[in-house]
Amino acid sequence: MSNITFTILKPDSIRNGNTGAILDKIVKSGFKIKAMKFTKMTDEKASSFYSIHSERPFFKDLVGYMTSGPIVAAILEKENAVNDFRELIGSTNPEEAKEGTIRNMFAKSISENAIHGSDSDENAKIECEFHFSPDEIFN
Ligand code: CMP
Repeated sequence: MSNITFTILKPDSIRNGNTGAILDKIVKSGFKIKAMKFTKMTDEKASSFYSIHSERPFFKDLVGYMTSGPIVAAILEKENAVNDFRELIGSTNPEEAKEGTIRNMFAKSISENAIHGSDSDENAKIECEFHFSPDEIFN
């Protein structure tokens, strides 16, 4: 897959009532929704999704937080999707996120940072396939 990225609206976004506003911003920025689900990750699923961070000191808190409530997971399509989406969401640490980015507008802290975006085409493919089966993806 090319021109595809994967996103999660994290539990703080759902809890704080920001789901609609964030999705609106994503769509108005030119991303097409190819797949989307409202779901809750199990401990096992979140640990596996974030396994690259398993040795980090924040890993346990990250898994605890990502399983603390429902999320919205989605596959998004746009030319240059991975990089454009990372521009749209802003830096991981919301204090460093540029004005107008999703994390600047909606995130509270580096651990509760509103939204996830894939960091490469390779990881976008892996993450999309981790969360969606082919029959859940539409053109
Ligand atoms: P995300 O880009 O979704 O993927 C890894 C997540 O780990 C990241 O968002 C942050 O929410 C979290 N994270 C990264 N660095 C730290 C940190 N120093 N302390 C706590 N959480 C972090």
